Amino acid sequence: MQALVQTSLDGPRDLKLTDVPVPRPGPGELLVRVTAAGVNYVDISQSYGTFAGGPQPPYVAGIEAAGEVVAVGEDATGTVGTHVIGATIGGGAFAEYCVIPAVAAIPIPPGWDDEQALGLAVSWPTALAALRLGALTAGETVLIHAAAGSTGQTAVKLAKHYGATVIATASPEKHETVRRLGADHVLDSRSPNLTTEILALTNGADLTLESVGGPTLETSLAATKRVTGRVVVFGLPAGTAPITNWDLVYKHQLHLIGLNLGALIRFAPQTFGEVMHDLFDLIATGVLTPTTPTTYDLSEGPKALLDLESRATVGKLALLP
Ligand SMILES: NC(=O)c1ccc[n+]([C@@H]2O[C@H](COP(=O)([O-])OP(=O)(O)OC[C@H]3O[C@@H](n4cnc5c(N)ncnc54)[C@H](OP(=O)(O)O)[C@@H]3O)[C@@H](O)[C@H]2O)c1
Repeated sequence: MQALVQTSLDGPRDLKLTDVPVPRPGPGELLVRVTAAGVNYVDISQSYGTFAGGPQPPYVAGIEAAGEVVAVGEDATGTVGTHVIGATIGGGAFAEYCVIPAVAAIPIPPGWDDEQALGLAVSWPTALAALRLGALTAGETVLIHAAAGSTGQTAVKLAKHYGATVIATASPEKHETVRRLGADHVLDSRSPNLTTEILALTNGADLTLESVGGPTLETSLAATKRVTGRVVVFGLPAGTAPITNWDLVYKHQLHLIGLNLGALIRFAPQTFGEVMHDLFDLIATGVLTPTTPTTYDLSEGPKALLDLESRATVGKLALLP
């Protein structure tokens, strides 16, 4: 089968279309004929080796696959012919066939095409978990960075659904998309005066979803309410940034919360189960609707990842084998 193999830790440029054997499902696993693979920022982190505990090259890249179950491993629950979406954090999704753990297989919502469900395994639970861990309540103000991205768009929709005022940031050419989602204020994520601009709208956000890192971490801390404010940190495309105990005592007196979806699944399975349960309710009630991803042929995978890395994309990206 054809697959995109990451051959170095020098980034998506070294993602090569390669002939590899079709994987075999082991105990507890399903073999899926991939019809659409979701692109996530995680793929970029893994391609540079900055994703803690990520796969080592050469590896078949991609962590989110949707498609048809074609074989069921020993002791696995699953039915050949059904359509599922699942995450496989060790890679394997950017391929014609992919093995996923049966426990991670989520049925494609009725009436949806496989590619319309992309996000359900990674971006959507991340957005909802961030709002939950951040204890968002109606009437509060939430600051959402990368609001035009796959995770950010979901967070904006959900925060509005839960009755929050949304201050969103995104690159200027993406502002109209974010406004259409219902964000109350949309600011330029590239502005050098972002902190001042946020504080002109609020005396501090009650909750900030911090998915950018680098200098944006300081903006997020400075723009969040003293004492009661919460900052959920879950991504760092702009790089690492330090925060010290001195900062928390004398400068940024707030609640700092780290989020990693893999850790949530492993260490708090009940909370993760509640998140997935709520996501299905949000789908059933029409709050979350089918995704319309920007699609690329599997062979164009390196371009898709480079587009994501260069901040050129809006919403979800899909690779079609
Ligand atoms: N912790 C977890 O378990 C977990 C799970 C899923 C996702 N995440 C994180 O959530 C974030 C969003 O992921 P996604 O897959 O939905 O990606 P995405 O939001 O579709 O794309 C990333 C966006 O981040 C913004 N950005 C700001 N500074 C950037 C920089 N220096 N380099 C690149 N992008 C920058 C860009 O938006 P603008 O140009 O519009 O500002 C860019 O479009 C990522 O940080 C990802 O790692 C974490």
